[in-house]
Amino acid sequence: MLTDNHGRPINYLRLAVTDRCNLRCFYCMPEHGLDWLSRVELLSYEELLRISSLMVGMGVNKIRITGGEPFVRRDIMQLLSSLSALPGLDELTITTNGVLTAPYVSELKRLGIRSVNLSLDTLDAARFFAITRRDEFAAVMHTLEQLLKHDIDVKINAVVMQGRNTQDILPLVELTRELPVSVRFIEEMPFNGDGHQFSGIAWDHVRIMEEIRQHHPQIIKAVDGPYSTSYNYNIPGHKGNVGVIAAYSRTFCGTCNRIRVTPTGILKTCLYDDGVLNLRDMLRTGNNDEEVKRALLYALKHRAADGHEAERLVKSTASIHQSMAVIGG
Ligand code: GTP
Ligand code: 5AD
Ligand code: SF4
Repeated sequence: MLTDNHGRPINYLRLAVTDRCNLRCFYCMPEHGLDWLSRVELLSYEELLRISSLMVGMGVNKIRITGGEPFVRRDIMQLLSSLSALPGLDELTITTNGVLTAPYVSELKRLGIRSVNLSLDTLDAARFFAITRRDEFAAVMHTLEQLLKHDIDVKINAVVMQGRNTQDILPLVELTRELPVSVRFIEEMPFNGDGHQFSGIAWDHVRIMEEIRQHHPQIIKAVDGPYSTSYNYNIPGHKGNVGVIAAYSRTFCGTCNRIRVTPTGILKTCLYDDGVLNLRDMLRTGNNDEEVKRALLYALKHRAADGHEAERLVKSTASIHQSMAVIGG
């Protein structure tokens, strides 16, 4: 088993395959988008596959594909297909905004993908437009329908923002009455590509849960998985469940089993660090697998204890203004 310097098992790789996105969520990037990375800056299909199989060989057994939006990358299905065949990989999964996803759902099912996380911050089309700056609500709902129809587990990620969508908390909880989905409310983080000022959060995990509990006093704490980012709850009579992710308060760092690779091949051992190893350069300058593994192990043995420490160690403030699309969610 792969462990870090704090004794935490590392078995989960979050692989960001592009910085591009077909939405412009204001908590993620500015209205006019980012300066998109050029193709040569991004990891190629071969590089993504090499990094993945190397890490699976070291003990990673879960890979989540993120972005930007994974489905705007042209070779995404080819990549998913190759990854799904990696021996030792038990779980391959995706976080998507659902705009382009619906036509691929049956193929995802065929590849053995059992769960998909869908970003959806509101059930109101007008507010969806206000948050994402694109008129794609119907497409996302269609993806949700397709995923459920194909019996794929769905977690809905909703970032909670003062003055934007707090009125959506209860309708999103209500969705779990009839649909077997997990709705997870996420604290907003500062990674918005400087699209708007970030001055801390008005809605932390405690306040979000208070709001839900007030309307659902019968809500029961569920047992969380060992590395869960979310505190999960059941509401009697509901087919789905709800959760809250303290992404900004960072309450779950003690069991953090995740590492990240950004679209340009930078290894991050914490979401809040500014990158600890340039894997792309290592691959492109001819290092063999053993050399790359050694560098990876070194990075894992020098991991920050938690997201607060990682943030303190960051050298420039630029990384705090980075977009989630460049970090990889
Ligand atoms: P599961 O595999 O379903 O547990 O997914 P996940 O929660 O790891 O991934 P997802 O991509 O759905 O992320 C949901 C939210 O949790 C996003 O806002 C992520 O940025 C946040 N998140 C995921 N991992 C971490 C982490 O290591 N630290 C922090 N602070 N937030 C995280
Ligand atoms: N704060 C919190 N969550 C964010 N996400 C994107 N940007 C932010 C942010 N600034 C979430 C998306 C997606 C997940 C990968 O990250 O909603 O579901
Ligand atoms: Fe795109 Fe996701 Fe960022 Fe929204 S949060 S702009 S959907 S990458």
